[in-house]
Amino acid sequence: MKVVPTPEVIDPIDTRGSGRDAIGLGRAAGEGLDARHGTILSLEDINVSFDGFKALTDLSLYIGVGELRCVIGPNGAGKTTMMDVITGKTRPDSGSAWFGDTLDLTRMSEVEIAQSGIGRKFQKPTVFEALSVFENLELAQKTDKSVWASLKAKLNGEQRERIDEVLATIRLEASRNRPAGLLSHGQKQFLEIGMLLMQDPQLLLLDEPVAGMTDAETEFTAELFKSLARKHSLMVVEHDMGFVGTIADHVTVLHQGQVLAEGSLETVQNDERVIEVYLGR
Ligand SMILES: Nc1ncnc2c1ncn2[C@@H]1O[C@H](COP(=O)(O)OP(=O)(O)O)[C@@H](O)[C@H]1O
Ligand SMILES: [Mg+2]
Repeated sequence: MKVVPTPEVIDPIDTRGSGRDAIGLGRAAGEGLDARHGTILSLEDINVSFDGFKALTDLSLYIGVGELRCVIGPNGAGKTTMMDVITGKTRPDSGSAWFGDTLDLTRMSEVEIAQSGIGRKFQKPTVFEALSVFENLELAQKTDKSVWASLKAKLNGEQRERIDEVLATIRLEASRNRPAGLLSHGQKQFLEIGMLLMQDPQLLLLDEPVAGMTDAETEFTAELFKSLARKHSLMVVEHDMGFVGTIADHVTVLHQGQVLAEGSLETVQNDERVIEVYLGR
């Protein structure tokens, strides 16, 4: 097991005894999730192949409770496939994937995984364009009903408050009644993050969230993610190194379906192999 230096800015709470690379930062995992060892996600020796092509090879990676992890690596490294394994979209040929100490992700359906507290944001925003910002958040809160039944059912005070809270978090209060289709690309991305937050996920997976954003939107995304970490755990796949440097506790470099390097951004940026395959000279 590699020993990864812990960045000085953070204060690890529980890495004792885990013998793992994850940094446990949160005080506790969310309700109902057992993560006493401080690790919210454990991927061990994961293998995935597509028609003989190995997309992931003996991939092992651990994320601590409350950690904000960035995953970088060249195109085709297996970053999205890894998220597909975590969310149950792709079944590994072998290996284990645990959420907390007790939930075996390889035996759960995509729906069960989402309900257990793993939220995923894809690269392209998928909001309901004809509905208002508020209604999009309302729907995200009530996933058990059809669209029509959800919008007809009255919200209670607590639900309303939660939506207001999320509107403030994603800075869309002023646009609450606008059709989502009229938002900028960046605002749609924020709305989709808000829709994820309505489910109160403990682990958020974000695939290239700042692609196509303006500088100001990217800056706000960095602030937003930093404010979400600790209370949530985040795994962010991103190519924008400036962004990664601003937010990451810990960076994992994937290459050919395996972890090539892990540590602070500075550590991985100075790693000869990383420079060779990804950063260039
Ligand atoms: N469903 C699939 N069928 C066949 N090949 C796939 C499939 N999904 C991914 N791959 C291949 O697996 C490799 C890893 O892809 P991906 O996980 O998307 O990489 P990344 O997100 O790091 O760019 C690529 O070579 C890709 O072409
Ligand atoms: Mg990808």
